[in-house]
Amino acid sequence: MALTTEHVLDALRSIIDPDIGRDIVSLGFVKEVTIEDRRVSVVIQLTTPACPVKDQLKQQAVDAISALPGVEEADVSMTAAVYTPANREGMIPGVKHVVAVASGKGGVGKSTVACNLAVALAQSGASVGLLDADIYGPSVPLMMGADEEPEFDGEHIMPLYRYGVKLMSMGFFLEADRAVVWRGPMIGKALQQFLNDVAWGELDYLIVDLPPGTGDASMSLAQLIPITGVVIVMTPQDLAQKIAYKAVLMFEVLGESAGRPVPILGVVENMSGFVCPKCGTVTHPFGSAGANVAAERLGVPLLGIVPMDPTVTAAGDTGHPAILVEPESVQAEAFRSIAGQVAARVSAVSMAAQTSS
Ligand SMILES: Nc1ncnc2c1ncn2[C@@H]1O[C@H](COP(=O)(O)OP(=O)(O)OP(=O)(O)O)[C@@H](O)[C@H]1O
Ligand SMILES: [Mg+2]
Repeated sequence: MALTTEHVLDALRSIIDPDIGRDIVSLGFVKEVTIEDRRVSVVIQLTTPACPVKDQLKQQAVDAISALPGVEEADVSMTAAVYTPANREGMIPGVKHVVAVASGKGGVGKSTVACNLAVALAQSGASVGLLDADIYGPSVPLMMGADEEPEFDGEHIMPLYRYGVKLMSMGFFLEADRAVVWRGPMIGKALQQFLNDVAWGELDYLIVDLPPGTGDASMSLAQLIPITGVVIVMTPQDLAQKIAYKAVLMFEVLGESAGRPVPILGVVENMSGFVCPKCGTVTHPFGSAGANVAAERLGVPLLGIVPMDPTVTAAGDTGHPAILVEPESVQAEAFRSIAGQVAARVSAVSMAAQTSS
């Protein structure tokens, strides 16, 4: 019996995307099937280039095709196109997903996570923007080593560009060390300009670094645009989880008042244990089960754990995110893995929203 496209598709139906929970054929991921004699080539298009199970899915596809009778060679190419729901009401033109990084508390590493997440997603091949929504205490200029004043072409503000990421921050418009004294409504106005008047162009992900707490910026953001999801950053000391829990509740309330849900993508536990400078082992003085327990109690996935390490602090202070300074380090690996988890959750959340609407 001659080998047909249907045979190949049937074999590929056994492969389930673990984040979405459906097979890759019914999800429409299999874009091309070519059969030449005993050689089968397929193209599989994932919903994000940062897919954490890309290699695993590729291997499964090679195995499934190779097991078909009459196949001598299976050639599987993986590509990606970031998924965006058909209903784009209220979204920034060209920007597929807005992902906010938040916490109930200051100083837990939101900006550090936001910068490393943005660079990691860009390194995976996605087009990425990073918006510093901390109007009073912007961190992005220092952490990304960017402080020129952006150009304005009379209509749009041009984002700065570092490490493959488009950047916008109030810090670009201020003299160093000058405090901003603004009232709430002005924060909303500034954010609105940053969302609508910046030439973001085509972006797969716009990462928004929020200021701490339950303030005006979070509220304005939720009201101004649909947010695909929020990453909550916490530290092990928050183990009472009250603060992270408060943040989760806040986005629920913000979603209700904005008339559209603001899903929580998951939590990141930052400064969790420390890396031994000699042997690289991670020690957890506050215990290591905390993040899992916290995530479970909050009812959201754990996206990853980042250990405390002086190189992360130093990297942030010198304008080079840790992921670039020591790409092989435990912290860099943690940030890359978190980026993969975030991207996978973004796909899952937006595909679920599409199916249910
Ligand atoms: N994993 C880490 N290891 C070591 N230092 C870290 C780590 N994460 C963050 N830091 C450092 O902790 C400080 C606070 O981090 P960061 O500014 O990212 O927090 P934040 O939550 O954004 O703070 P804010 O609430 O003020 O916006 C920074 O000096 C940063 O370099
Ligand atoms: Mg910050």
